Amino acid sequence: FAFTPDNLKWAEAQIKKFPEGRQASAIIPILWRAQEQEGWLSRPAIEYVANMLDLAFIRAFEVASFYFMFQLQPVGSVAHIQVCGTLSCMICGAEDLIGVCQDKIAGKPHELSADGKFSWEEVECLGSCANAPMAQIGKDYYEDLTAERLREIIDELAAGRVPTPGPQNGRFAAEPLKGLT
Ligand code: FES
Repeated sequence: FAFTPDNLKWAEAQIKKFPEGRQASAIIPILWRAQEQEGWLSRPAIEYVANMLDLAFIRAFEVASFYFMFQLQPVGSVAHIQVCGTLSCMICGAEDLIGVCQDKIAGKPHELSADGKFSWEEVECLGSCANAPMAQIGKDYYEDLTAERLREIIDELAAGRVPTPGPQNGRFAAEPLKGLT
């Protein structure tokens, strides 16, 4: 793994934002850029970032393995679906959403679908508990999901369309709340 010239220039600029000896503080954005370039974070990519920041591999791996936003194995070429499985979402139907992922994508988390287009995993609370159950797909949140709606979303993505993110039942949509304006 090596950064493209543009990404290398960008990463060097991030490192310069921090005081001498504190370059490790740039690790999260630089790991993120490596993931954007590669699609996921391979061991060589993490080693590359660690070397760039003058860190032991394990220090960079600790960060990469701590956050759900970093993927340590290949993900679906179209979408990686992260279903929240924490309390509010579990009470409101997360198991049904996981069932859809098992049915339509792969039996186990982090497995690729047969066509390589999708993967999924269960993650901890994504901070959108009021709109449970929900899932993150790419950088977008899909909230107030039902099993039926998640099936449709996967079909739309497979057909090359990007479903509108946000609440899927119209709750808290564009209309301002009465009394708050
Ligand atoms: Fe699912 Fe918080 S419990 S977003």
